[in-house]
Amino acid sequence: MSFYCIGNWKMHKTPQEAKAFLQTQKLKNTPKTILVGFSVPSLVAQSAAEALKDSSVLWGGQNCYSEKQGAFTGETSPFVLKEMGASFCLVGHSERRQVFLETDEMIGSKVKAVQDNGMTPLLCVGETLEDRKWNRTEEVVLSQLRQGLAKADTKKPLWVAYEPVWAIGTGQVATLDQVEQAHKFIHKFLAENFRSGVPVLYGGSVKPDNAGAISKIESVNGLLVGGASLDIEVWNQLLSACV
Ligand code: PGA
Repeated sequence: MSFYCIGNWKMHKTPQEAKAFLQTQKLKNTPKTILVGFSVPSLVAQSAAEALKDSSVLWGGQNCYSEKQGAFTGETSPFVLKEMGASFCLVGHSERRQVFLETDEMIGSKVKAVQDNGMTPLLCVGETLEDRKWNRTEEVVLSQLRQGLAKADTKKPLWVAYEPVWAIGTGQVATLDQVEQAHKFIHKFLAENFRSGVPVLYGGSVKPDNAGAISKIESVNGLLVGGASLDIEVWNQLLSACV
């Protein structure tokens, strides 16, 4: 299995900035052993598609609706994302859960919709600080996985990201032990309830100085990177740390 490094740009970059980033020669020097992708804002999708036309770098959405089309004002269609060339789409990122109040049920429908439209869902799960304090990490992650995958097709592609909410954008990265424990737990659940061999990525304050150690954990198959994916120099340092 290749190692995955997926950048999550959140609501950053204009179409022009995205194009400049994705077309730079510096991105073309990506190590061959790493599968690289960027999760871009919907309004930047066209630019990403054009910039990455003949590239091995993938791009995907950050969210989409569970229906292909219809009276859903303001939503992004998974069908259109696919037509534009997206390979994957994040589903259930903690910012979608917390800021936009997405429920596990909605997330389960979105995972199915992404698969049905020929893309790979990147299902994000992870506990809050409160959950961890009360020793509820596994219980919360288990429930998110169960409901998130309730309608998923075990024969179709899937990626999962473990992102402890308290580590996202805070600079407070999980310890190597915490990451390993959570990843083993997720792999076990997937092997028993979905399929083995599903890539499980870690996300939450991954930077060039901690990416090397995290990427060496056996149960970590990749990284989902927010802040450190916005600057090409920082991004390349991060990739170099993973090879
Ligand atoms: P961060 O974000 O790397 O800035 O913590 C990660 C994410 O939200 O996926």
